[in-house]
Amino acid sequence: MKILVLGSAAGGGFPQWNCNCEGCRRVRAGDPFAQPRTQSSITVTANGSQWVLFNASPDLRAQINANPALQPQGAVRGSPIAAALVTNADIDHIAGLLTLREAQPFTVYATPRVHGVLAGNSVFQVLNAQLVSRRSMPLDQPFSPFGPDETDLGIQVEAFAVPGKVALYLEDETQGANFGSRPEDTVALKVTDRRSGRSFFYLPGCAAMPPWLADRLRGADLVLFDGTTWTDDEMQRTGTGSKTAGRMGHMSMSGTEGSIAAFAGLDVARKAFIHINNTNPVLLHDSVERRQAEAAGWEITYDGMEFLL
Ligand code: MLT
Ligand code: MN
Ligand code: ZN
Repeated sequence: MKILVLGSAAGGGFPQWNCNCEGCRRVRAGDPFAQPRTQSSITVTANGSQWVLFNASPDLRAQINANPALQPQGAVRGSPIAAALVTNADIDHIAGLLTLREAQPFTVYATPRVHGVLAGNSVFQVLNAQLVSRRSMPLDQPFSPFGPDETDLGIQVEAFAVPGKVALYLEDETQGANFGSRPEDTVALKVTDRRSGRSFFYLPGCAAMPPWLADRLRGADLVLFDGTTWTDDEMQRTGTGSKTAGRMGHMSMSGTEGSIAAFAGLDVARKAFIHINNTNPVLLHDSVERRQAEAAGWEITYDGMEFLL
């Protein structure tokens, strides 16, 4: 199974359109230690020709143009993208579905809750229901996603709820501290190549690491994990915002409650941060934080990075 990182940045990308923080400024200045990144998405193939998208970012068009494997092959119209699975209803994970219009058959998988959000936004009707089937991704029940015409894509997926938050634009302050979030709002995916049996976990959003989740990830071949911020108060520190990472539904990397500490001792063969916010100093190759993350055994994903399992 091949895993290709299409977009390694969090929502907004690197640089973000309205941000002039150190990192964003350095990308715009062409600093070689600050490489641009597009928004959060990966794609996977088990058979080498058909690809499954995991999240569909607003940058999907540019990501397809940057990756020949996702471009039409042969016929006058067509796409190697056979299915798209989304892990939540955040803009950075669903807006790219709109890029996949133009009468192309594929399958969209999401939890019933996230499908409800898509169904409630009439702009997504641009995906012609006769060509684009929307299928439910049940929690805790492994399933094999299909492409158009029921083609088998060779992978098995298991979705399970992880600590997180409802999409920003759906937050309901009358619903208390979690803004009306439900378990189906944020899922992790375990993806298995059915032929080799090898698997990886994809968690671009995760707000905490309870013991059951640590146990679940223990000994994994590969985990792609929420790398949104380095510190919980990073937005305040950088003057870019007032919310903590926790308030946004993300676990920070550093500190006793952070993901680096949470993974210590979990014996994960390869662990890599993804969905990295533009304020996160690990994006800068010459930062102390980058060295610390790497010294703790973490890789920092970049657009175009590949993993073979
Ligand atoms: C997030 O990951 O917290 C969201 O994508 C934020 C947003 O909607 O911009
Ligand atoms: Mn996001
Ligand atoms: Zn920035």
